[in-house]
Amino acid sequence: MAALRITVIGTGYLGATHAAAMAELGFEVLALDVVREKIEMLERGETPMYEPGLEELLRRHVAGFEGTTGRLRFTQDWAEVGAFGDVHFVCVNTPQKHGEYACDMSYVESALSSLAPHLTRPALVVGKSTVPVGSADRLSRMIAELAPAGADAELAWNPEFLREGFAVQDTLHPDRIVVGVRSERAEKLLREVYATPVGEGSPFVVTDFPTAELVKTSANSFLATKISFINAMAEMCEAAGGDVVKLAEAIGHDDRIGKKFLRAGIGFGGGCLPKDIRAFMARAGELGADQALTFLREIDSINMRQRGQMVELARQALGGGSFLGKRVAVLGATFKPDSDDVRDSPALNVAGQIHLQGGQVTVYDPKGMENARRVFPTLGYADSALEAVRGADVVLHLTEWREFRELDPARLGEVAKARLILDGRNALDPELWRKAGWTYRAMGRPTA
Ligand code: UGA
Repeated sequence: MAALRITVIGTGYLGATHAAAMAELGFEVLALDVVREKIEMLERGETPMYEPGLEELLRRHVAGFEGTTGRLRFTQDWAEVGAFGDVHFVCVNTPQKHGEYACDMSYVESALSSLAPHLTRPALVVGKSTVPVGSADRLSRMIAELAPAGADAELAWNPEFLREGFAVQDTLHPDRIVVGVRSERAEKLLREVYATPVGEGSPFVVTDFPTAELVKTSANSFLATKISFINAMAEMCEAAGGDVVKLAEAIGHDDRIGKKFLRAGIGFGGGCLPKDIRAFMARAGELGADQALTFLREIDSINMRQRGQMVELARQALGGGSFLGKRVAVLGATFKPDSDDVRDSPALNVAGQIHLQGGQVTVYDPKGMENARRVFPTLGYADSALEAVRGADVVLHLTEWREFRELDPARLGEVAKARLILDGRNALDPELWRKAGWTYRAMGRPTA
């Protein structure tokens, strides 16, 4: 049997990574994006975002480079996509709707309505985008109405669990593959696509449509729950004089709880967790799942409160008055390390709040400067941690880059106005800083 031919629709974070990974697995891949610039960039082997290993992977497969497999090509022609693919992966984004909690399905709907009329031969359309439960059922009816191939064109749902910063690794070696299918043929095709990772041990979970959709949103909600749980415990620790870092370590020794995602601090951000939990809330409300809605709302509000708590911690540390005339150094702008993404970044949010309250804020981030400047041009920016800290009344550590853990507190102490550091990520070594003469404070930890 001839090898399957794969198309990928949407070449953002998810699509670009998925397309390159499919080529790496040996498939011929044709990727489409409606934005020409995105395609031109990928054709040059470049990515619009910082993602370790992705450019190398692209350059191994994008047609046109010397020595590449040439298995990955790009197009803007829907008819070419329809004619080429046996399996079409839909990887467009589903952002939060402006001014609402629900997610915006317009990119998914537009991708499917553009593709379906070109499905003239047997094909499997596989949704990977994160969508509200019930969407796959609706979209499958849309394909049935529009595809000339009739019943030979069908839909499956295959959510994606990749993490920014680990996108390549997570796509090539997923810790599970979940497929929502309605036919044996769809399952068989997806088993063929994922034969390599499954052969290497990735579990392959077959479900119906709603379960596949819910697996994705509930996985992200569970991660969010862990973070908000530990942040609630940080509040308890502060009230009672305990240490949340020790507490997380101790409860994490229980395998049923686990050590991961129990780092207290300014909370979760990024393009996924916050919007997914809100879209999940909106959907729970529509479906009348009131307990789920109430539960999720608390997770979200604990998370948002952490940012304000950090601002308060800074205010108190500076004497409790206004930020006017205070120089505040902010280390970190991205929503997490090893990424240049500042979408819904808690770090940038805290920096912004202090700036709006009159503080003189100077930000440094190893990879996120360009994006941070774009979304928040009125903040001050420095080219290094040392420059950001120069003359500062207080230093805020807000994204836990390795570079910040490796800073020399003694050297920074020479340039800071006051040796006061607030660790919003509980990721620095308090003893190291205290030994160098700094006052170290963090959320959920006792003041020494
Ligand atoms: C998240 C999920 O981890 C992925 O599995 C999922 O596929 C992805 O969303 C998605 O839906 O596309 P990502 O957004 O890359 O991945 O970020 P995470 O590593 O989950 O971190 C999210 C936020 O939680 C960050 O702001 C991080 O600083 C924060 N966090 C994480 C904490 O505050 N404490 C922790 O203990 C862990």
